[in-house]
Amino acid sequence: MAWFERIREDVSSVLERDPAARSRLEVMTCYPGLWAVWIHRVSHQLWKRKLRLAARMLSQVGRFFTGVDIHPGALLGRRLFIDHATGVVIGETAIVGSDVTLYQGVTLGGTGKQHGKRHPTICDRVFIGNNANLLGNITVGENSRVGAGSVVLTDVPPNSTVVGVPAHIVYRNGERVLITDPHDIKDPLSDALIALAARVEDLEARLGGEAQPEATFITEEMERSAYRAELEQRQYVSLGEGI
Ligand SMILES: CC(C)(COP(=O)(O)OP(=O)(O)OC[C@H]1O[C@@H](n2cnc3c(N)ncnc32)[C@H](O)[C@@H]1OP(=O)(O)O)[C@@H](O)C(=O)NCCC(=O)NCCS
Repeated sequence: MAWFERIREDVSSVLERDPAARSRLEVMTCYPGLWAVWIHRVSHQLWKRKLRLAARMLSQVGRFFTGVDIHPGALLGRRLFIDHATGVVIGETAIVGSDVTLYQGVTLGGTGKQHGKRHPTICDRVFIGNNANLLGNITVGENSRVGAGSVVLTDVPPNSTVVGVPAHIVYRNGERVLITDPHDIKDPLSDALIALAARVEDLEARLGGEAQPEATFITEEMERSAYRAELEQRQYVSLGEGI
């Protein structure tokens, strides 16, 4: 496909995806994320022709003007849209599919522990919110969405939404996914929650079987009502004091 055609479709895709974009001229002149992609296309060609230093230098010029640091070795698909641009980093062995949207501050980086393919693979139509960090040789499946500020360290299945640090699935194939087992979140607090759940089970067993939730609830509710009534009375008395 001719370069001119590629530029045309890039501009059209921004007009489709960003409600703030009003005209082709505005998109071409005011979207540094697009300039970064265009500069990368040239630097990637230099990289493939083994002109490695020239490629790195050109990508640094691009970084200076756009705030987007794309390694010339990275493979980018068609119609990549980097909105607001600043602070996006795409590592050397990252692979990005077509129609992907990235917001400012997204990092497609390495963990610092791997060699070879050490950056993420992002499949088609993935959306990554601002300041999300995707680290290591992981794959984000088609049509998935990554929440702003998330840290993704493992593969994300297609058609899913992940959020959090570390990220966990909240939607899959349009269905809400609710976490009921602390093992499903690899959070630093998971171990504490798992230990707590085990302790509660143990205490319940020692108390002699199942608790009576309905009776407990009614008793608690009666206690709460009595306490509320007492508080109201106290407030009335204190308001009257000193008048
Ligand atoms: C991830 C995202 C796409 C999900 O949107 P959604 O499908 O409407 O999901 P919901 O709002 O129903 O959220 C589902 C759950 O995830 C939580 N959640 C959503 N986004 C989150 C985030 N970024 N971090 C942590 N939790 C998040 C919600 O609180 C909700 O949890 P709850 O039901 O327990 O309260 C969206 O929240 C997001 O982060 N978009 C990025 C936008 C962005 O980067 N904008 C930049 C503009 S400059």
